[in-house]
Amino acid sequence: MRRGCTGTEKRDCYSIVSVTAPDAPSPKTTGSDLTQRMKGIAQLRAHLRYAIVGQDNLIDRLLVAVLTGGHVLLEGLPGLAKTTVVRVLAGGMTLGFQRIQFTPDMIPGDITGSDIFLPQDGQFQFIPGPVFNEVILADEINRAPPKVQSALLEAMQERQVTVGGTTRALPEIFMVIATQNPIEQEGTYPLPEAQLDRFQMKVRIGYPSAEDELKILRLEHERTSGTPMASADPALTAGGVLELRRAVNTIYLDEMLERYIVALVGATREPRRWDAELADWVTRGASPRATLALAHTARAQALLAGRDFVEPDDILQLAPDVLNHRIGLSFAARAAGVTPDRAIERIVACVPVP
Ligand SMILES: Nc1ncnc2c1ncn2[C@@H]1O[C@H](COP(=O)(O)OP(=O)(O)OP(=O)(O)O)[C@@H](O)[C@H]1O
Ligand SMILES: [Mg+2]
Repeated sequence: MRRGCTGTEKRDCYSIVSVTAPDAPSPKTTGSDLTQRMKGIAQLRAHLRYAIVGQDNLIDRLLVAVLTGGHVLLEGLPGLAKTTVVRVLAGGMTLGFQRIQFTPDMIPGDITGSDIFLPQDGQFQFIPGPVFNEVILADEINRAPPKVQSALLEAMQERQVTVGGTTRALPEIFMVIATQNPIEQEGTYPLPEAQLDRFQMKVRIGYPSAEDELKILRLEHERTSGTPMASADPALTAGGVLELRRAVNTIYLDEMLERYIVALVGATREPRRWDAELADWVTRGASPRATLALAHTARAQALLAGRDFVEPDDILQLAPDVLNHRIGLSFAARAAGVTPDRAIERIVACVPVP
């Protein structure tokens, strides 16, 4: 049984449960070490599946993010397990974990750390902020003012932090999983479009089915009243994660598929070339970061499927989560109820699969 925790305490929450991982697929091009690591990722998936009912897309995307080092924005209404899933993910790996609860009264130093004057030494000393960790849960990121958001978003992009003129590198493994509620409430600061581009994927979380909700109810009851289960070792260490990331980079992406990715992203910029209605909908296209993200995540998806080469379907599966936060829709399209997902569906239907 997982142990719940509160506040910003470090990583002992939701330690891994003893579940039997399904046999992990092993890519052909790599050795037995990698096979072992793939078992680790399968165990991590099983750990997430045990604690989180349904939400398979969310779990798959988080595993892709672990394998690529990408930052993820989770968007969903309150109570859909956004915070829980990140705690569970962090609990399955031996990585430094820190949750930052974003609030309207924060200052950038609450994220990055600051130089504190020590009277006994007569000098300043840098006290690192929570960003100096490997897995960061940036909870309710849209509740903090823009200066605080950009302190984190700059760290995400540059993987370093500058305070008082000194630049300090962040850990080699540094992934931010931010959560936000899609309802624009009073006292929230929506992330600027340019900042959204720094998230490799934006994953939307929907309501569970009635059947899944029943399971959630029973799981919660078990959690609060059941006998604690023995905890097992975390599924992945930092070394294991880095090894898997290197393996992702060896996955073969054929030139035809590279061109397909470029064409999909290109269609967000020049929709008129493909479809007149699409041109009325899409006013802002995705950046080359989207192209890189789509190629990288498709490679990770292939590795998760036990292949050493990317298939078109890997790209098609990732395209909505990689592109939806990177395209802008016209006022008329939004008024007519067109969503970024619908525009992406149309793009995917227009651009021929190689
Ligand atoms: N799919 C699910 N599987 C397991 N538990 C779930 C699921 N969905 C919701 N829950 C349970 O619902 C409760 C709320 O979850 P959590 O606090 O993570 O939601 P949240 O999305 O972070 O909400 P908020 O936006 O208000 O912060 C928790 O007890 C969580 O375990
Ligand atoms: Mg939450």
